[in-house]
Amino acid sequence: MIVFEAVSFSYRDDGPPAVSGVDVSISEGERVALVGPNGSGKSTIALLSNGILLPSQGRVLVDGHDTADESALDVVRATVGLVLQNPDNQIVGATVEEDVAFGPENLALPSEEIRRRVAAAIEAVGLQGLERREPHTLSEGQKQRLAIAGALAMQPSYLVMDEPTAMLDPAGRESVLAAMERFHRQRRTIVHITHDASEIALCDRVIGLREGKVVYDEDAESLLKDAETMQTLDVQPSPALEVARMLAAGGVDVPLEADASRLVDALWV
Ligand SMILES: Nc1ncnc2c1ncn2[C@@H]1O[C@H](COP(=O)(O)OP(=O)(O)O)[C@@H](O)[C@H]1O
Ligand SMILES: [Mg+2]
Repeated sequence: MIVFEAVSFSYRDDGPPAVSGVDVSISEGERVALVGPNGSGKSTIALLSNGILLPSQGRVLVDGHDTADESALDVVRATVGLVLQNPDNQIVGATVEEDVAFGPENLALPSEEIRRRVAAAIEAVGLQGLERREPHTLSEGQKQRLAIAGALAMQPSYLVMDEPTAMLDPAGRESVLAAMERFHRQRRTIVHITHDASEIALCDRVIGLREGKVVYDEDAESLLKDAETMQTLDVQPSPALEVARMLAAGGVDVPLEADASRLVDALWV
């Protein structure tokens, strides 16, 4: 479980808090969408969840370990995998393969296990064939998938992903969502920062932030039915959801599906 207890954080001593009074728990196996307008504190929450930032007030516990406890930091970092909003900030290796191997090597795993994990993670995000490429020669979408592979290779219990599909083309997005799905099916936990209704529809729970405070915590279905709250949380309705809303407004009995193929299935029967 990741527990935020009355957490506040300010980037500057004299500045306003980026996150304030956040009390929230995320349990094993959950798939949580973290949403909110730009500047509402989503990335700050991500950075607090594995000890990259430490609370100015309150505390963050990862499976019982306080992130402010230096002796627990290695465990915390191995337990909570983080994919940053800008993948350029996360690339450390000279090649794709070395980059993905960096984390597992720090866990001092046997080299056979490292090779296995690296190959599996590269395949999970669809970067096979690019193992020897220099990361800076990759497209933005490929870099994003490289960052995700690096996190997957650590086999963390929790994966916190900060707008992982924002820079991807449709094919890249599909492969990232498929990798997330496989990860989640292993009873692992995902915190997915996104503005996209169809991605929120894949989650069980939605936590909404505004101005650094949690203002919403409901299941995904409830949010997608609530156009006004979606707007205050800056969640973009997907084209499918807009079509479903129009049909419903016109008297058609249709579920408010945000995912196009699920909407088609619902209309087809
Ligand atoms: N490195 C930083 N230094 C100073 N202020 C920051 C920094 N990063 C974010 N902030 C501020 O903290 C607040 C929350 O930002 P952030 O967590 O990035 O929000 P979001 O990810 O929801 O867009 C914003 O007011 C933002 O300007
Ligand atoms: Mg952000």
